[in-house]
Amino acid sequence: MNVHATALADAHLPDEQTSVFARDAIGDLSQRPKRLSPKYFYDTTGSELFEAITRLPEYYPTRTELSILRDRGDEIAAFVPNETALVEFGAGATTKVRLLLENCAIGAYVPVDISGDFLKGQAETLRQDFPRLAVYPVAADFTAPFPLPPAIAGLPKVGFFPGSTLGNFEPHEACAFLRSARDILGAGGRMVIGVDLEKDERVLHDAYNDAAGVTARFNLNVLVRINRELGGNFDLSAFTHRAIYNRERHRIEMHLISRKSQTVRMLGTSFSFRAGESIHTENSYKYSLERFAALARGSGWTPLKSWTDAAGLFSVHVLAASD
Ligand code: AVJ
Repeated sequence: MNVHATALADAHLPDEQTSVFARDAIGDLSQRPKRLSPKYFYDTTGSELFEAITRLPEYYPTRTELSILRDRGDEIAAFVPNETALVEFGAGATTKVRLLLENCAIGAYVPVDISGDFLKGQAETLRQDFPRLAVYPVAADFTAPFPLPPAIAGLPKVGFFPGSTLGNFEPHEACAFLRSARDILGAGGRMVIGVDLEKDERVLHDAYNDAAGVTARFNLNVLVRINRELGGNFDLSAFTHRAIYNRERHRIEMHLISRKSQTVRMLGTSFSFRAGESIHTENSYKYSLERFAALARGSGWTPLKSWTDAAGLFSVHVLAASD
């Protein structure tokens, strides 16, 4: 057994997902500046911490998007054809899709998520509350092309991408995702998408540096995961959470800052940190209505209408596939 195999066996998770995580983590921590992908935040603890974030007083996006979906439900429904197959990219809590299911003429619901287990649970609860709704879960990475279930071939298609998840993508990745969604949904396809807006920097800062420290725990959880799943020896007390707004790039950046000069080991590899050195763990891009509309136009979509809350914190857009 080589050192990697030993560490993986010790972590009791010698499966394919773990080796992808291992490869990404080693590669990303070998970069300068060091980084880790935000997709690794979401193990069971991380998903629970994110749910807790959505309830924080400072974290406005979730409750603001929900209020737009609720208050503008009938206006949004006017853009959703009868018997629509609603394709949700990424399956989180079912709270948001329920609002569309209640307001719109949805014939079938297709949640797409990389985690098959999560999807099954989600599909079950929706089947109970919407007994006449056909649910066709698809276990796939939604950032790459995937086939839609044959059963919805004849139905109009509307994509749903709430939560400003688009904000995690670099601008070129956001464009690639929108193009891929356009290909998957096909001609005549539409999209309902939630996008967080640029605003007062204080509001952004507080939303990602909450007083209760939940975002800090969420950020640090990726190190907990490396320790548990990849046999790492990160000392959590030796790293601090920091979120800053990068004005030029219109994005919140999350970092884990090394409090001291130190060496951390994982899977037989050592990584040394200078005091104050950062691991860049997330970008959360913020858009203006105009910049998002321009991104959509450049990615195969025609913006039809958008809504914001009264304070202009968050936006929901309806797009139509361009010819
Ligand atoms: C799930 C990517 C939309 O960027 O606001 C929340 C993740 N990170 N607090 C966001 C997150 C820190 C969230 N997204």
